Amino acid sequence: MDTAHHMLLFGCKLPATNDNYWACGNRYGTCLDEAKIMYAWARNAPPTRLPAGVGFRVGGNSGINYIVLQVHYGDIHAFRGKNNSSHKYHFSHRENPLIAGIYLLMSENTVIPPGAKVVNGDIACPYEEAVIHPFAFRTHTHQLGQVVSGYRIRDGQWTQIGRQSPQLPQAFYPVEKPMDIKYGDTIAARCVFTGKGRTTVTQIGGTSQDEMCNLYIMYYMDAQYAKPYMFCTKDGSPKLFKHIPPEANIPIPVSPDMAMHGHHPEAADKSVALQQPKREEEVVLDQASHLEEVIDWPVEELQLGQVSGVALDSKDNLIIFHRGNHVWDENSFDRKHIYQPQGIGPIQQSTIFTVDPVNLKILNAVGRNIFYLPHGISTDKDDNFWVTDVALHQVFKLGSKGEYLLILGQAFQPGSDKDHFCQPTDVAVDPANGNFYVSDGYCNSRIIKYSPDGKFITQWGEESSLSRIPKPGQFFIPHSLVFVPGLRQLCVADRENGRIQCFVAESGEFLREIHHPEFGGRLFAISYTPGGRLYAVNGEALVGNSVPVQGFVMNFSTGEILDIFKPAKENFLMPHDIVAADDRTVYIGDVQASRLRKFIPSETTETFLEAEIEGKMKAPDVLEKHNRKNILKQASTAVSPVLITLLLVIPVVVLVGIGVFIHWRKGKMYGGTQYNSYCKYCINYLRGLNLGNFFASHRGYSRKGFDRLSTEGSDHEKDEEGTDSETEEYSAPPTTSSS
Ligand SMILES: *[C@@H]1O[C@H](CO)[C@@H](O)[C@H](O)[C@H]1NC(C)=O
Repeated sequence: MDTAHHMLLFGCKLPATNDNYWACGNRYGTCLDEAKIMYAWARNAPPTRLPAGVGFRVGGNSGINYIVLQVHYGDIHAFRGKNNSSHKYHFSHRENPLIAGIYLLMSENTVIPPGAKVVNGDIACPYEEAVIHPFAFRTHTHQLGQVVSGYRIRDGQWTQIGRQSPQLPQAFYPVEKPMDIKYGDTIAARCVFTGKGRTTVTQIGGTSQDEMCNLYIMYYMDAQYAKPYMFCTKDGSPKLFKHIPPEANIPIPVSPDMAMHGHHPEAADKSVALQQPKREEEVVLDQASHLEEVIDWPVEELQLGQVSGVALDSKDNLIIFHRGNHVWDENSFDRKHIYQPQGIGPIQQSTIFTVDPVNLKILNAVGRNIFYLPHGISTDKDDNFWVTDVALHQVFKLGSKGEYLLILGQAFQPGSDKDHFCQPTDVAVDPANGNFYVSDGYCNSRIIKYSPDGKFITQWGEESSLSRIPKPGQFFIPHSLVFVPGLRQLCVADRENGRIQCFVAESGEFLREIHHPEFGGRLFAISYTPGGRLYAVNGEALVGNSVPVQGFVMNFSTGEILDIFKPAKENFLMPHDIVAADDRTVYIGDVQASRLRKFIPSETTETFLEAEIEGKMKAPDVLEKHNRKNILKQASTAVSPVLITLLLVIPVVVLVGIGVFIHWRKGKMYGGTQYNSYCKYCINYLRGLNLGNFFASHRGYSRKGFDRLSTEGSDHEKDEEGTDSETEEYSAPPTTSSS
């Protein structure tokens, strides 16, 4: 019987308690300081031994004065008070020529939207230490991880260190091709996740409902330069990861009996359980659906004021509507919505630029001496500009040379009748018949429909009450419009209600609302592309809990979120308008940052991907065979002494000398073989041996200043049921990190 499911070996200065063994999923963690992983064994995984001549440095000032073995039990039926799960070690006093260490790459910022097909966690750091030789690697995620891959990047060349499904036993696997990593290289890793089956957003964290994206690289290096633990937690740049080999995006098929994360019959949400790929075509995830920012886009050269509107013309050139030297602030309007600084006159610069979307060359510049506070911009099929000005309370149709074709509303006069607007926000034009729609606005709550020549046809909408859940057809700042041609719907970003409402364009009849928790309370702008994609951008909450400000791609027919995207660096401040091209390039105007951002789908080569999958199906077998061979190959000739050589004994057979008596806590008998139901015990193996004394240098530390790791603490609060949390693996990088 598979009593032990997996075991992790940690080194620490001080264990979590002074007991010989303890339940580490409960009150205690593993170590009082950071738990440094030294080894991992998992059921069904091939064995890994340290190459000859390689050992971990322990004792003395190594930072490892205790070794804690953590055993995760699978089936406890065979357990009658005794358990022999163990590892075997060799200790030596003599200095070892090669020191083993672990390089941990860990994402801290990955966010997985519910239902998202593919989300990548990318991590990369320059390597700035002495040469290391990776010989084994271990991947770690929770249930949503599909594949984790690690690379060395040297002179632009990506060389694989390791690639494995985190759903396979999370042991250390051998690095197939010996390599070194030296100063000037970059170490990079990608975790591919899927948000399918989740109904809420998943973030990095300690509980089983959270995710992790970790890659452990075990290496050896010359003892002279030894640096046993290194960390990298930097987000990899989209520019760098554009060149990641496509294999990194292909999940590795896992047969259910090999799966690390078993079924969760007790889990409330069954859909959370690992989704096995059934057919090959499901295996190829749609990597191209993730949007990444174009970071070398020379947008600074444009000298824009507050960017309030973006649109595209019929050639997909980008149109920008900005406020030049005017800003909208608390002095702009009085309580009756009358624009105050009229005296300064209109913006003298061009407010409407048409630019080449690649090099941002200005193709056309109009809109001088007209506008006071530009807001929305849209185009029609003849490339006229439809704009609103919230100071003027007017809506304009301008020709491509900036000539007036239509002006609606009375300048500077707010109102809510047929001849007045109150800070109108946006226009959408029906390409079939030229009818157009105006969202009106900050101080009205209506949509008005006009004939092509500007005759009022109808209007709908009413103000939503602040204290009640908004009803269909109520608005709290209708802020952005899209016309969906095929379905003849008009959709409205109902900004302060944080939702999108869609209506029958002809009649204004309410059809549905699209709302996701990820929007938070405010949704600023929307855009629609043929092919059924709806794009949106949200805004920072004014009160209460904030959600990240991000862009969203949704399936228009289902409303499902397909992708969430954000700038590569920095954050959005107040993304105010969004427009998407048919090729899925997305532009966002940030009114507060006074800048534009451009996002494009990450690249992919699907045919190549499919060929790769077949070759990789057998990966686990291949690995097993390679295993011993490689390790022998890498072993350095000197079988000379090691400080500690961990003879990592594989199956749970053995055990030398140390019988561990586990006291099973009553009431924790979940029974069965479910992965999520075993109790986790940490065994302070070396208590009897007391490494600190053994190496006679226990004196250097004090108990002060050792904080329990935050994620462990938080886990206990969130995850009392003792589910598969694995918090122990989330170690905060120490200050000496190389990241
Ligand atoms: C949207 O969902 C429908 C129904 O599942 C599907 O047929 C369609 O292909 C999806 N569209 C996009 C753009 O993902």
